[in-house]
Amino acid sequence: MMDWERFYRRADYDRCAYIGGEQMADLVERFFEWRGVPDDFASVGCGPAVVPFLLAERYPDTEVFGFDLSETVVQDNAEKAEEQGLDNLRFAVDSLPNLDTDEKFDVVYCVATLYFVEEPKRAIESLYARVREGGHLVLNYPNETSREQFDREFDGRKRESFELVLSGANLINEDVVRDVTGAETRNYWELVDAEEEAFVDSARPCVVVEK
Ligand SMILES: C[S@@+](CC[C@H](N)C(=O)[O-])C[C@H]1O[C@@H](n2cnc3c(N)ncnc32)[C@H](O)[C@@H]1O
Repeated sequence: MMDWERFYRRADYDRCAYIGGEQMADLVERFFEWRGVPDDFASVGCGPAVVPFLLAERYPDTEVFGFDLSETVVQDNAEKAEEQGLDNLRFAVDSLPNLDTDEKFDVVYCVATLYFVEEPKRAIESLYARVREGGHLVLNYPNETSREQFDREFDGRKRESFELVLSGANLINEDVVRDVTGAETRNYWELVDAEEEAFVDSARPCVVVEK
């Protein structure tokens, strides 16, 4: 299974957004136009936190948080936030499927992360529990179509990283998200008008669940 801490401990990992690059922050802006600018926003499985950094700059009145299981990436992000004087951006170590934080947020954003989590149902419960009443969860997850696509397209190391998806161990579908949250789902890509973007093809599905 992918060892993320080991990955980030190697010097010079790429400070990239794993899906969609910096454009993902523009899409979040469109999402904010739709739902209103949140008081707080939490990215779970934030990695190098490209989206949290851009949002913290663009929305100084929004408290932005990033959580990741890797201490190294959390520390690197925290140092970078301090260097940049971003007082509204904070990071902490926390991991799915059971988040330790008991804070609640207007928006909980979990993109390109559930692919690596063994118990997706518990993870969704935990993520949704962290959403404040009236808030939203944005959730990208692997389904059977992801498995088929990754099986056709990925090889070598990449196959090993996506072992849980390729073995079918952590696949879910939209009905599971609805069952676990007890709420309706909407297609995030459609909502932010990104259906035609090339990267979306390998990042389906992504849903919004209101609380
Ligand atoms: C592919 S990266 C995505 C990073 C970021 N969300 C993005 O879209 O650029 C996956 C991230 O999820 C983190 N991760 C993996 N399993 C996790 C877990 N169980 N709980 C929290 N974070 C996890 C990894 O450390 C890694 O930073």
